[in-house]
Amino acid sequence: MKPVTASYTLNDAQPRTVVLRRQSDIAIIEIDHPPVNAMSAHVRRQLLDALQEAEADASVAGIVLTGRGGRFVAGADIREFGKPPVAPTLPDVVEALGRCSKPIAAGIEGQALGGGLELALACDWRIATAGSVLGFPEVKLGLIPGAGGTQRLPRLVGVARSIELIATGRIIKIPEALEIGLIDEVLQGSTVDACILQLQKRRGMKRPVSSLPIVSDQAGIDEARAAVLKNRRIATEAARTAVDVVASAMHLGFDEGLAAERSAFAKLRGGEEAAALRYLFFAEREAPRVAGLDASPLPVGKAGVVGAGTMGSGIAVALINAGFSVVLVEQSTEALEKGISRIDEILSRAVKSGRASAETAESQRKQLIPTTSMTMLGDVDLVIEAAFEVLEVKLDLFRRLDQIVSPQAVLATNTSYLDIDAIAAATTNPGRVLGLHFFSPAHVMRLLEIARGRETSDEALATGLALARKLGKLPVVAGVCDGFIGNRIFSAYRRQCEIMLEEGALPEEIDKALETFGFAMGPFAVADLAGLDISWSRRKRLASSRDPRERYVPIADMLCEQGRFGQKTSMGWYRYSGTEKRREPDPVVRALIEQASAARGIERRSIDADEIQRRVLAAMVNEAVLVIEERIAQRASDIDVVLVHGYGFPPARGGPLFWASRQNAASLNQALDAVEASTGFGFRRAQTIPQVLAEVAS
Ligand code: 3HC
Repeated sequence: MKPVTASYTLNDAQPRTVVLRRQSDIAIIEIDHPPVNAMSAHVRRQLLDALQEAEADASVAGIVLTGRGGRFVAGADIREFGKPPVAPTLPDVVEALGRCSKPIAAGIEGQALGGGLELALACDWRIATAGSVLGFPEVKLGLIPGAGGTQRLPRLVGVARSIELIATGRIIKIPEALEIGLIDEVLQGSTVDACILQLQKRRGMKRPVSSLPIVSDQAGIDEARAAVLKNRRIATEAARTAVDVVASAMHLGFDEGLAAERSAFAKLRGGEEAAALRYLFFAEREAPRVAGLDASPLPVGKAGVVGAGTMGSGIAVALINAGFSVVLVEQSTEALEKGISRIDEILSRAVKSGRASAETAESQRKQLIPTTSMTMLGDVDLVIEAAFEVLEVKLDLFRRLDQIVSPQAVLATNTSYLDIDAIAAATTNPGRVLGLHFFSPAHVMRLLEIARGRETSDEALATGLALARKLGKLPVVAGVCDGFIGNRIFSAYRRQCEIMLEEGALPEEIDKALETFGFAMGPFAVADLAGLDISWSRRKRLASSRDPRERYVPIADMLCEQGRFGQKTSMGWYRYSGTEKRREPDPVVRALIEQASAARGIERRSIDADEIQRRVLAAMVNEAVLVIEERIAQRASDIDVVLVHGYGFPPARGGPLFWASRQNAASLNQALDAVEASTGFGFRRAQTIPQVLAEVAS
């Protein structure tokens, strides 16, 4: 390939984010806007200028569009969505590419997402490196593609497939992209060279996607639509709009289809769902940042996991998936074998579902070193303890770990509630102790609460954060309190639900009200899934320290006393029948609840869905603000990240604090009064709710 023969100079006072250069008769336009080549206003302006300059140059036979820094383009600049649009808009730039009289080839190296993929679709050829990823993730921001994606994609890959891809927002890897015709060629080396070859081979040939005929397959479209609509988590407002707009491509001309896309996009962009999801996008990226933390993480190559129960096995899988060697310790051979078979089961499910190859699973399995001897932990760099949730058990374990594990290693506990400071005090170096609270299933759930004890060193915290990154987790740092951020707020939520049971609501009514609000599952269905016995034993342990003046709702205890531990015993808050274990309201439970109300002298009344939602959410918001006031959470948005990623709070509502920041203050206060009155003794009302909500809204 010939070296660069000429370069252009663009007149622009803005920092250079688009580079235009020449190689023989081909103009190469490179987008250079770190970190992700997002299409900000000045990138759009410079790209359009570069395109016009190349098109106007009679000596240019074709154009290559590519990105620098190992990325193509990650899409529109999300930071601009809350502001008035600035010309040229992304659709302007994409349509200019689509109308260009000269052939254009897109050289994709890295991510071509959202508006980035729309740029590529407006080109005549698409050539990608094998590791690139494509996709339309707009629905995850409460949007649909707004620069022609809903109209070009169906012309290239069919309407039914486009519905699935756009409404789920899933990533499309290169083999699939090639198979469905989204890209024309895959290679390992430089896509620019391959694009130049292609353009020179096809001299002057244009191949606009917009003029391809649409292949319609009504049965396939109906099926794709039904699949989106039946899944409550997927069928957000944006996904439903995506289905309609993509399906409309079938009977509208290209330009009419674009107009329909534009107006639907503009409506979604101004809506609540998009505002909430945009907020979460930035909140998630902010969460791992810890003010004042200035320490390097300790290197971790080999890790230890103590306890091979459900959590321990899941944590071990998360670690081996990320390439760590893992010493897995259990007390008895029997318990260890159970843990190993749990791990084997998870690995083989990954192979069956195509998420991992048999070779990968095999080599991951070899990274596991199961043992019943704690002394095997001598040379690990980090230990995660996932034993019984009983303080004495953990204290004893940490005393032993402190002696066995190398003094440089970090010692973490997966406790959900217990006092990290007390656990750390059992060691001779409390600075190396912290909490790593995984969520079940630990190899799947992204959230990781990192509990920083009073003495936790900056190195240990930095190591926890670096580990989270390697595991692909979303870390949120919490201070020490009963339940850290998530379980503490969730307890306040559940408590209000149980109080409403005594007042007159039924579990199915509360679950339905909260599922209608958007929670993945109501609290009673969740409790049945998790098992009622674990929290029962915790309550029994804490019974002696409970203040008798506190309102205590005994209904969950009454269920447990009858052996109703949830789904595992086919009965809990509900009864479960058939192989599908469908939940059904149980008259026995209703009788117990009525008995509890009578014992407290309460005349039951019906509580409607609106009151249920408002009281439960107000209880959550109050506890969340207490968590901030006590400096357990670093920032309000961390709390929303925890509740959305760990507790089924609907992402489209942004989290409890974001939700509250959009509510009428008087009605929130009224709901809080009801929570306070119903809880009675011991209730603490947060003092800074308006200030916290104002900060969230800003
Ligand atoms: N706009 C503005 N900023 C963006 C951005 C975007 N599209 N994508 C990422 N960023 C920022 C992040 O906020 C972060 O900034 P920070 O360092 O100040 O916190 C920085 O870029 C790096 O991002 P990540 O930490 O997420 O980097 P990763 O390497 O882990 O991930 C990524 C890269 C996969 C591209 C990921 O950032 C991502 O998924 N981005 C969003 C992609 C997307 O949703 N695109 C569609 C946008 S909507 C659109 O295009 C509408 C169009 O149809 C009209």
